[in-house]
Amino acid sequence: MNNVSSTHSKSRDALEKVLKITGELNKLNDIDTILDKILEEARKLARAEAGSIFLVEKNKLKFRYVQNELLYQKDSNNKDIYSDLTIPINTDSIVGYSAKTGKTLIIDDAYNLDDSHPFTFNSSFDKKSGFRTCSIMTVPLKTHQNRIVGVMQIINSKNPDGIIMPFNQEIQNYISFFASHASLAIERGIMTREIILRMMKMAELRDPNETGTHVQRVGAYTAEIYHRWALNKGKKIEEIKKRKDIIRLSAMLHDVGKVGIADAILKKPGRLNEQEYNIMKQHTIFGWQLFENATSELDMLSRDIALLHHEKWNGKGYPGSFHKENGLFHCMEKGKLGEEIPIEARICALADVFDALGSKRVYKEKWPDSKILKIIKEERGNHFDPDVVDAFFQILDVIKAIRKRYN
Ligand SMILES: [Fe+2]
Ligand SMILES: [Fe+2]
Repeated sequence: MNNVSSTHSKSRDALEKVLKITGELNKLNDIDTILDKILEEARKLARAEAGSIFLVEKNKLKFRYVQNELLYQKDSNNKDIYSDLTIPINTDSIVGYSAKTGKTLIIDDAYNLDDSHPFTFNSSFDKKSGFRTCSIMTVPLKTHQNRIVGVMQIINSKNPDGIIMPFNQEIQNYISFFASHASLAIERGIMTREIILRMMKMAELRDPNETGTHVQRVGAYTAEIYHRWALNKGKKIEEIKKRKDIIRLSAMLHDVGKVGIADAILKKPGRLNEQEYNIMKQHTIFGWQLFENATSELDMLSRDIALLHHEKWNGKGYPGSFHKENGLFHCMEKGKLGEEIPIEARICALADVFDALGSKRVYKEKWPDSKILKIIKEERGNHFDPDVVDAFFQILDVIKAIRKRYN
């Protein structure tokens, strides 16, 4: 093959690859899984050591995702993705400049910036972590209407021998092309998350305990505990990420059935009596009803979690099996037992209890961590699946980062 045709087929291969990845992106639902995939693929295209994504939120750049092959264990849970760092959209910083001007920036050496630039390189992350940033490509993520939804930064491109080099023209072209397609997936992911938050807002209008931050936390805890649990079980990372994509969203909907419970019970300032509690239990069945004719995997999992998040490993939870009489649902005495409860619901049960105990309620104060963690240990094998409790304790640092991010 002569040089020209080999270059041609190389660029056609790369283009086809970008299109294939875009197709895969379009199958994902959750914004976090989408960002993870975008960063992973962009880094692959550039053989880059690290990368991060910032999204525009309330006129600021909010740090949303990070990957770094030198700092983070490959494919393990990463607490740093829940960092609450925000950066103003102005020309003082590299990502701020890109978001403000809509321009792609190519920097060959972060520590030797041209004086003509208005921004400076912030080396605090390098200092703290021991990482050394060298070449940087910063791309604004724009929608078709040219609205900037975020900024992607790819760091330290390497040649095939693993030597760090500046981003060459070919790689710049691929990444820019990829970023323009990725923005669509990001917009869709943000929209899905917002629709779910809005659904929960309806539940929140009824039950002030079910706040947006509570559901974001429970969604994130459930997704991350699942990630650890599945690694422990030897599952493949690709499979884990696919499942995690729908777990976070469906766990956010765990209590959506509360919209069907009367105000007098939901808003009662104090503990419920037995009769009221029995009515309250029906929120699980109401949630299940919302997804009764589920066809997508997301709907099916939402249905299972809504129905089964109050079941207990030892069979003492609810609703177990139930029947309808005079227009009312009646739960049976016995709950589902052990592995009869799907794993996602077993995990959501722990995530929900952990979060509720750490939150103030009309009838109780917020509990200190020591007391909460003691209860969780005591309930290992009783209320909670022992393997789920073990996975939870393995990623306690991630759990705490999530709590801080959505407080
Ligand atoms: Fe519930
Ligand atoms: Fe809840």
